[in-house]
This record gives sequence, structure tokens and C-alpha cells, in this order.
Amino acid sequence: MSQRKILVTSALPYANGPLHMGHLVEYIQTDIWVRFQKLSGNLCTYVCADDAHGTAISLHAEKQGITPEESVARINVERIRDFGDFHVAFDNYHSTHSDENRRLSESIYQALNANGHIVNRSIVQAYDPEKQMFLADRYIKGDCPKCGATDQYGDNCEACGATYSPTELKNARSAISGATPVDKESEHVFFKLSDFTDFLKQWTRSGTICDEIANKLAEWLDAGLQDWDISRDAPYFGFEIPGKPGKYFYVWLDAPIGYMAAFDNLCQRRDDLDFAEYWYKDSQCEVHHFIGKDIVNFHCLFWPAMLHGANYRTPTRVNVHGYLTVNGEKMSKSRGTFITARTYLEHLNPEYLRYYYAAKLSSRIDDLDLNTDDFIQRVNADLVGKVVNIASRNAGFIMKRFDSRLSASNSAPELTAEFQNAAVSIASHYESREFGKAMREIMALADKANAWIDEVKPWVLAKEESQAQLLHDVCSTGINLFRLLMIYLKPVLPAMALKAEAFLNIAALTWQDSRSLLSNHTVNTFEPLMTRVEADKVAAMIDASKEVFARMEGKQPQPALSPWLEKEPVADEITFDDFARVDLRIARIVNAELVEGAGKLLRLTLDIGEPEPRNIFAGIKSAYAPEALIGKHTVMVANLAPRKMKFGVSEGMVLAAGPGGKELWILEPHEGAQPGMRVM
Ligand code: 2FM
Ligand code: ZN
Repeated sequence: MSQRKILVTSALPYANGPLHMGHLVEYIQTDIWVRFQKLSGNLCTYVCADDAHGTAISLHAEKQGITPEESVARINVERIRDFGDFHVAFDNYHSTHSDENRRLSESIYQALNANGHIVNRSIVQAYDPEKQMFLADRYIKGDCPKCGATDQYGDNCEACGATYSPTELKNARSAISGATPVDKESEHVFFKLSDFTDFLKQWTRSGTICDEIANKLAEWLDAGLQDWDISRDAPYFGFEIPGKPGKYFYVWLDAPIGYMAAFDNLCQRRDDLDFAEYWYKDSQCEVHHFIGKDIVNFHCLFWPAMLHGANYRTPTRVNVHGYLTVNGEKMSKSRGTFITARTYLEHLNPEYLRYYYAAKLSSRIDDLDLNTDDFIQRVNADLVGKVVNIASRNAGFIMKRFDSRLSASNSAPELTAEFQNAAVSIASHYESREFGKAMREIMALADKANAWIDEVKPWVLAKEESQAQLLHDVCSTGINLFRLLMIYLKPVLPAMALKAEAFLNIAALTWQDSRSLLSNHTVNTFEPLMTRVEADKVAAMIDASKEVFARMEGKQPQPALSPWLEKEPVADEITFDDFARVDLRIARIVNAELVEGAGKLLRLTLDIGEPEPRNIFAGIKSAYAPEALIGKHTVMVANLAPRKMKFGVSEGMVLAAGPGGKELWILEPHEGAQPGMRVM
């Protein structure tokens, strides 16, 4: 079969909060599918990005007292670490707030405009006169017009389920400032979605989405499509619309374009990937999106219409999954079932979750329940009790009795052939995202292997010297069966597969390797491949999750955050190399004197062990009499570019901390710090 070229995406997570178990359903599902494609020899590329724009993101940043750019950058660092620790292996993780995305968003908009699919018209919207911004429905709160329940959102009542328009709310107020909203008119830009009704009717029935979703979309298509408002007024964190000063693209316009942008960014450093080959009309490459059922309209109506209207290819397939429930209910912060990726990782092995999700995933859009008891039981029974057990039951004999060498003959040829033939149906389950079926088939094979070992009883053979050859063949066969199972599990359990490859002393396994067996081959020392899930660790994770959110919501005393940190949050992360470029040295203050005409400065003469002392102006006059400083040791930045000041050249900087005025202290090292010593 020829190599397929496949571009895969998961929905771009909003950059305004931590990743949690719900998000991970999708990223783990996609990652398994991608790993399977790569293992099968296809050129498969997996991209994602932070969804960085919109009001939610800028409000999140504002709460922390930082810019949206800084907030997005911080979250990006956490994200990349969380995904990596769950073995979600993107080929590129980018951001929608990127040059590539700006360029593509502008050009797609311009193409839609040139092709007559854009209209402008004025609309009246709620406006927060204090914040001076328009308010989306969810930023308006008030009393329900039907039942009077207080504190309800602008579009629906959580108490009685009524839906209404924000103008009907009683005592409406801005959820951002508390001000009473006023109506205000403004011109908006619309995408004429109805131009694409016929195209979408055909596209949604062309194998791109499952029937269940296509049926739902047919209802909307039959009811008639509305124009889609793609602009937002300033202030808005996003891209300004070309030719429309003060108007920005709505976050959902540039978010899916972020898929293309992330790929474009990757193409710039990969010779084997060509943006045009994947995205231009009539492309022979495949584009697969993985999304949750809540964002189907964006991906199966607006997105294909935008692409089609701007002369790009449309997605090959949009794969839709359901929501996650934990112990049968919506994730709940108070019950401790709103578990962040990081809290999970602090307690449990990520591959437990990868396997559990795989075992429960199908191609359908049903919700998936993470039942904590079932989780413990299933992972322990299947992975530890069945799969790892096969290796550990045989590895000991191979090591101790046969010098770690596998024999050349197979003592269960039929069973082995059955294992090898299963590669076809397991592959088709992976391909069609029926991961649960794949896991069931693999575990049924593991059961057969264990039943066969029970039957041939290597531990009995081991007692009879005359049975040594049979023991050798049996255990070698057992190890080969284990190897085949690891090939089939590798998309789900990449870290365990890596350990198995190290034990088996082989190159990275591929799907093709299921056609061959190991014979006359020396293996390495067997190390435990996976330990059991411990129930108390699961309980500790739930407790920790309760605490995380109680703290966030201020329900418990927060561990004191230094007021200094609150005023000035820790700056963006730098690398060790960045830090190492700052040369901090111990300096002895040889002299200190007032500077005529300078209100705040003292002139310091510092010895850092160089032939000539340094001259430095430091703004510490309010806190120190010059004579009090002479003879002290302090810390200085020794490689700061000299700065010409009104009173002379300053050749470095001393380090000091404090609120200011009299309360300002130079840093004073103690014990053996000598001039010129490097501070690290
Ligand atoms: O629903 C969400 O979480 C969005 N941030 C998904 C965006 S997917 C894509 F279109 F960018
Ligand atoms: Zn109500």
C-alpha cells in the first residue's frame, strides 16, 4: 500500500485554564490514532496550538494583572509539559496568536470578501459603559424574566431552563464591571453562510462525518442558515480586520485557521512537508480533525464553508467524540472529580489513563465515563495481570536458565499464527477509531497466551532437567507472544513499549514487525514494565483535586502568596543559558559618596578583583549613609553594558530589594564571599 499523507488536529485548547481529564479524552484519542498511523508507515503529522484570542483570554490575563500575551505564554509552557507527560506527541504545538495565523486569517477573509461572501451591517448590542466594551451574552447577568432566579446568564436560566435574550433579563448588569448595560449600535462583518447551503448538504453526506452528526446538521441546513457574525469591536484580543480599524476577527474565525497556521509553521522547518500540497484544492493528502460534540457547528458548517469559499480543500473527516463524566456525573470541583492533568500526573502513571480511555473509546459520540473503581480494576487486571504477566512468567527462566537467549523453535505455532493474523483486524479497529474493540481483541489474545502458559506449565518443566529444551521453547514462545501484544498496544502505551523494546533488545517496533518473530536472539534483563494502580493513590488524587479548587475559589485559606509576587508576578521563563549570560559577582564596596545634584544616587567604587575598581551609580541614597556602606560586600551585575549617566558612566549594577525609601537593602553575602567570586 502506498504511503498516505495525513494531517491530524485536535481542537485547540483555550489558553485560559489548566488541562483536565475532559480535555485529555480528545488528545489521547487523537494521539493514539496518530501513533497508529505512524507505526503503520504513513506520513502522519499531528498539529495543535493554543487558542489564544477572545474576551475570556483577556479577562483571564487581566485578573492576573498581566497582558494577554504574557498569560498565553505562561499557559503555553504548562500545556506543553502536561501534554508531553501524557505522551501526547504533537509534531508542532503553535499558537493562534502567531504571524502565520494572522496572515492566513487575513487572506482567507480577503478571499471570502472578493468572492462576495462578506456583508457588513449594523447591530444593536449590550454595552458596558464602565468597561467601555460590548458584552457577549455570557457576560451579562441578572434575574430570570420567567422565574425570577437571581444571578442568571444573559441567554438562559439555570434554575428553570428558560431561554431568552439579554434585553429581557431583570436587573441586568455587566458580569465584568457590575455596571448596567446600555444598548449601543455598531457595524459588524458577516460571513454569508447561506451561500454554502447546497455545498454543505453535499459535504456533510460525503463520508466526512458520522450519520448521527450529519442528521443533526441536516435539521439546521433545512431550517435555513443565518449569516455568521465574524467581527468584534475593540477592545478585543485578536487580529484587526484588514480595512476595518477597531474591528477584530471573532475568535472562532481565526481558531480553525490556526490548524493551517500550526502546519504552515511546521512546514517552514520540515523539508518533507509542503503547505500547498496539503491545503490546496484537489489535494491528495488527508486532513482529519478530532473534536468534541459541542463544537460541531464550527467544524462542520462554518469551517468547510470558509475553506470552500476561499478556494482551499475541505477536511477529509471530522471525528467527533462525546463528553467525559467521572463516576457517572459531570466533573465536579467539590467532589474532587474535576481533575487537572497535573494533579493526575502527581499521583498516577499517565499510561493507566491512556489505556483506560482507549478501552472505552469508540467511533460513536457517546459520553465516556471514568469510573474510578473500574479504572483501578481494569488497568490492574488487563495490563498488569494479563500483558505484563506473560513477560514476567517467561523472562526469569530465559535469563537464569538460557543465558538470556531465545530458542529457535516455537512450541505454539498455531497460537502464534493467530496472534500474527490478528494484526489485520486490530489495525482496522484502530483505523476506524474503535479503540475499545482493539483493546478487547488484544486482551482476548493475552487471555489465550496466559491460558496456554497455564497449560504447558513452564514452572513444572523447569524442575525436570530432561525438559530443558521444551522449557526453552515454551518460554521463548511466551516472550514472542508478549512482543506481538506490545506491537498492538504501542499506540496506546508508548512508554511501556519503549521499556519492552529495551528488554527485548530490539529496534523500535513497527506494525510490520508483527510478521516476524524473534529467534536465536539475546534479550536484556527484565525490569518491571508497569506496577499496579494503587487505590490509595487514586483517593489521594481526588482529595488533592478538591483542595486545588477550594483554594482557587477562596473556600480555604490560601497558602500566602507573597504580596510582592502579587504585585509583580514572576517573569516569563528563561533558559539556563539565558541566566548564565548574566554574570553576577561578589563586590567589595571600597568607597561610597554622595553625588552632587543627584537626588537618589550614591557613587560606589567596587572591587571585584579586577585591576581597576568599578564605578557605579546606585539609587540607594534614601536608605544608606555613604559611610555605612564602605567595607561591605554585595552582589553586582558585572557584565551589564556601561551606561552613560548625567554624572558619569555607570559600569554595572548592584542588587537591592525593598519597598523603597528607607526600606531598601543591598544584598549582602556572608561567610567567605570574596570579591570577584561568581554568584550562581
Ligand atoms: O472549544 C474550544 O475549546 C475551542 N478552543 C476549540 C477551538 S478548535 C479550533 F477550531 F481551533
Ligand atoms: Zn428561570
